[in-house]
Amino acid sequence: MPLKVQSTVSALCLFGVLTLLLCPSGQCDCRIFPSIAHGSHQDMSSFLSFTTVVHYECDEGYVLVGEPQITCRNSQWSSPAPQCKALCLKPEIENGKLSVDKNQYVESENVTIRCNSGYVVVSSQNITCSENKTWYPEVSKCEWEVHNGCEQVLTGSQLLQCLPNPEDVKMALEVYKLSLEIKQLKQE
Ligand SMILES: *[C@@H]1O[C@H](CO)[C@@H](O)[C@H](O)[C@H]1NC(C)=O
Ligand SMILES: *[C@@H]1O[C@H](CO)[C@@H](O)[C@H](O)[C@H]1NC(C)=O
Ligand SMILES: *[C@@H]1O[C@H](CO)[C@@H](O)[C@H](O)[C@H]1NC(C)=O
Repeated sequence: MPLKVQSTVSALCLFGVLTLLLCPSGQCDCRIFPSIAHGSHQDMSSFLSFTTVVHYECDEGYVLVGEPQITCRNSQWSSPAPQCKALCLKPEIENGKLSVDKNQYVESENVTIRCNSGYVVVSSQNITCSENKTWYPEVSKCEWEVHNGCEQVLTGSQLLQCLPNPEDVKMALEVYKLSLEIKQLKQE
């Protein structure tokens, strides 16, 4: 082998050994793209370029947090890969409000359910938007708080809710009164 070629070969070998020593796990190798959960990536590097360019996109229902595009040069990534965070829909709360009112919430966001006066939260008051796009624990309800001795009122108001309009309520009451009178007449 001519001397020149030999020295080039050994220089290349030295470079390879150094690369291995500096990057033993291969993690800083530009050919290994950091992958992300709930998303995908695409190699956007131009042919013959020394810089690797990777573009990230999130699956539907997830939002990208961080840099959507990262580059690699000399085994160094410009920034960490972005994250795809789940989006949770606004929970519908009857007879109550949420501590933070938005149309969508991002993973790990906490919300407190605040029931209207007279109503109490049935299970967990605090809920968190979780990685699977659902609330955890399950969204609670606000239920009418029944005080001792108020059960009849509650039953009455529930009965009233069954009837569509005031005329029906009036008629129902008349029928009820009549039925009581008939009962009384029968007893006499
Ligand atoms: C939500 O609450 C959890 C547990 O209490 C906490 O670890 C997390 O940091 C909170 N999230 C935010 C966005 O504050
Ligand atoms: C719900 O979260 C609020 C605010 O983070 C906190 O003050 C409260 O103690 C929590 N309630 C429960 C039942 O964990
Ligand atoms: C969503 O994640 C929570 C934990 O964060 C888990 O308890 C729950 O079962 C999951 N729900 C579904 C539908 O996978």
